[in-house]
Amino acid sequence: MHKVIFDTDPGIDDAMALLFLHQHPEIDLIGITTVFGNASVETTTRNALFLKREWNITAPVARGDGKAFDPMRNPVDWPVMIHGHDGLGNIDVPQTIDLPVDPRPAHRFIIDTVRENPGEVTLIAVGRMSNLAFALKEDPQIAALVKQVIIMGGAFDVPGNITPAAEANIHGDPEAADVVMTAPWNVTVVGLDVTMKTVMTRTLLDEIVRKGGARAKLLSDISQLYIDFYGRHVKDGMVVHDSCACIYLVAPELFTTRSGAIRVVAGGIADGQTIQKPDGRAFPPGNWDELPSQHACIGIDTDAVLALLAETLSRPA
Ligand code: BDR
Ligand code: CA
Repeated sequence: MHKVIFDTDPGIDDAMALLFLHQHPEIDLIGITTVFGNASVETTTRNALFLKREWNITAPVARGDGKAFDPMRNPVDWPVMIHGHDGLGNIDVPQTIDLPVDPRPAHRFIIDTVRENPGEVTLIAVGRMSNLAFALKEDPQIAALVKQVIIMGGAFDVPGNITPAAEANIHGDPEAADVVMTAPWNVTVVGLDVTMKTVMTRTLLDEIVRKGGARAKLLSDISQLYIDFYGRHVKDGMVVHDSCACIYLVAPELFTTRSGAIRVVAGGIADGQTIQKPDGRAFPPGNWDELPSQHACIGIDTDAVLALLAETLSRPA
């Protein structure tokens, strides 16, 4: 069983990834931590509670503090045209959900849970990397106690999606992402190089709803706005960014990775760009030296990934 803390900004593709984690038989979802990104942290937390209630998820929800790692960065803009005013596709999510939030801030929840389960917890982070960076700042020793970190974010050999240089999750808190990439733990980065190739068509989503029933129907309702938005980039379907990171956990053989130290640019026109120094390539001494070798996904078996995703989302409650 893979013990997972899911750090997320629901968010439409986040919602799909959450249902995947909840329904996969080899995954034990032990915590959900929220971060700003697709909406404010108040909204993403409310959405996490909403999905927890609708899908009968038992994992506790702990709220991020809504701040970027560098206090000079002030998160203000939310991508309402992609994820909706409510962050979940304008389905009129209730204003408040009558479920408790864990009393600890997200980064403290991560520290405590990792320390209670040394060597066992996988962190899957599919929003800004703020909570992970704050956890490392408060307790750097947890790096050695985490089993692995899987991130949705970044763009290595392809353009970004928020600027030509940067992907949104990294661009929203580059200082945090650099802390996470350079810490002495095992990081796999599932970025736009592979996620932009992974498109769930409306037809496949409809099939999932037919087999999966009410849970899948809610997912489909949430996803329509996002599919309409992505129509300008891909043909009639949704790019399943965050699910790709979750699938890497259970089926890493469906991905090709490249190893090497990863840094994140902070400031300037390439703010938020992810750059890897591939292992084995020699350069003069520089900013990538003496850092842990991390793993950037550069290839994906999209058909197999989509089949596994569809099969898992189709499991009836
Ligand atoms: C990432 O940004 C968010 O909008 C999505 O949920 C995903 O995590 C894609 O760049
Ligand atoms: Ca996300």
